[in-house]
Amino acid sequence: MSNYVLEANDVAIHYGGVKAVDGVSLTLERGQIRGLIGPNGAGKSTVIDAITGRTRLTRGTVHLAGHDVTALGATQRRMRGLSRSFQRTSIFGQMAVRQQVELASHKMGVADSQADADAVLQELDLMPLADATAEDLGYGQQRRLDLALALVGRPQVLLLDEPMAGLSVQESHDLAKHLKALTSRWDVAVLLVEHDMDVVFGISDVVTVFELGRVIASGAPASVRADPRVREAYLGSTA
Ligand SMILES: Nc1ncnc2c1ncn2[C@@H]1O[C@H](COP(=O)(O)OP(=O)(O)O)[C@@H](O)[C@H]1O
Ligand SMILES: [Mg+2]
Repeated sequence: MSNYVLEANDVAIHYGGVKAVDGVSLTLERGQIRGLIGPNGAGKSTVIDAITGRTRLTRGTVHLAGHDVTALGATQRRMRGLSRSFQRTSIFGQMAVRQQVELASHKMGVADSQADADAVLQELDLMPLADATAEDLGYGQQRRLDLALALVGRPQVLLLDEPMAGLSVQESHDLAKHLKALTSRWDVAVLLVEHDMDVVFGISDVVTVFELGRVIASGAPASVRADPRVREAYLGSTA
């Protein structure tokens, strides 16, 4: 048995001649945050689609808590605790915050969806907004609601594609604080694709760097930041 809650091995996604992801292996331990960075088009979003089952693999395998889920669809993987956020696309504008989170929990088949929803709202400091409708929330609050919907049923793994995009510095900081708290209190493992380098290097336990669909560096934040290839390819030599 492996110790990893998530293990992607030699994952490739080719679109005709385009090798969007070309033989990537990465792991997550329980409660770990792995930052994933790389230039536009490096394959970061595609690897999230691959891991969550949204896109068919050209090759490779995905294991969740030691079980091979490669043949399972996205919904089945979500039911088994592999979750992602969708950047507002899953939010219903006119429904109250609490109602939406409860509905999402109910759809997941959680026995006590009310308790599940309350726990999520509490964890994300959304309780004061529980009766507001989503369309009345500010953008940063809507992003937190989106995260709440991804957290119903207590997933083991959470994959986030640029969750800080469009947020203010303060909102980004708040979201980062919530993510860190989730990993320690709920033991959720997070794969965090994010442009904001301060956030990535600030909260990640490990960082992986993609270039052209491949991993060019991976390890502790300080060593990745110091890697000459990373500095040249991505951070710029003065970073
Ligand atoms: N559905 C698709 N069909 C063809 N090419 C795609 C498709 N999705 C992504 N790509 C290509 O795959 C590469 C990786 O894209 P993407 O994963 O979105 O990169 P990133 O998220 O790192 O910016 C890019 O060259 C992109 O144009
Ligand atoms: Mg992307």
